[in-house]
Amino acid sequence: EADLSATLPLQGKKVLVTAGPTYEPIDPVRFIGNHSTGKMGYDIADQAAKMGAQVILISGPSNLAPKNNNVQVIRVVSCEQMYKACHQYFATSDVAIAAAAVADYKPKHVASEKIKKSDADFTIELEKNPDILASLGKIKKQQFLIGFALETENEIEHAKQKITKKNLDLIVLNSLKDEGAGFGKPTNKVTFIDANFNLEPIELKSKEEVAADIINKVINHYA
Ligand code: CTP
Ligand code: CA
Repeated sequence: EADLSATLPLQGKKVLVTAGPTYEPIDPVRFIGNHSTGKMGYDIADQAAKMGAQVILISGPSNLAPKNNNVQVIRVVSCEQMYKACHQYFATSDVAIAAAAVADYKPKHVASEKIKKSDADFTIELEKNPDILASLGKIKKQQFLIGFALETENEIEHAKQKITKKNLDLIVLNSLKDEGAGFGKPTNKVTFIDANFNLEPIELKSKEEVAADIINKVINHYA
């Protein structure tokens, strides 16, 4: 019997995807997080698998599950955990796509017991989290590295700076200005910018369709 899977464009390729938010603990019952649902990253993982890739999806807290059996999910909570998981799988990956909304800062001290309220106001000191994507850019060899950029002003300029700073091959610029785009929405308005700063604006479309466009960029890279 013919092996139809052998004809898929990403057959034999290993794709690493990050998705979802990270939660940074304050104490045993509280955390700092964000509104990311993970949908964009899960759709990318499913689309890559549909095209024949072997996919590792490193996901922060999310209610979603991949649809495709060729997506292996590794569930993490904090940036530190996501960082470790990414570095565990990056060396053997051909492609890495960072769709996670990683917390830029975390509480400097994590209380071992629930923090009790007092009459005084309360301040949480924050320290910087490592930039996972930039750390992968520093060590990348054969990998095709794709990042996202969420901007609200000077979007193109800021996204170009991220390409350079993180050593990316492609960035997906997310416009929050657009009504149909962003957290919890089924649609996204993106612009692709490649390492030569070529711009490709994409019309508003579903996250599944944006995922397909992103995976087509990967397929074209190997074509
Ligand atoms: N990213 C990451 N690790 C971090 C922060 C961001 O891997 N600690 C990745 C995201 O997954 C995304 C890209 O970096 O692919 C850009 O994230 P974004 O928040 O837009 O940019 P930052 O570099 O964090 O800068 P800022 O939030 O100040 O715009
Ligand atoms: Ca950020």
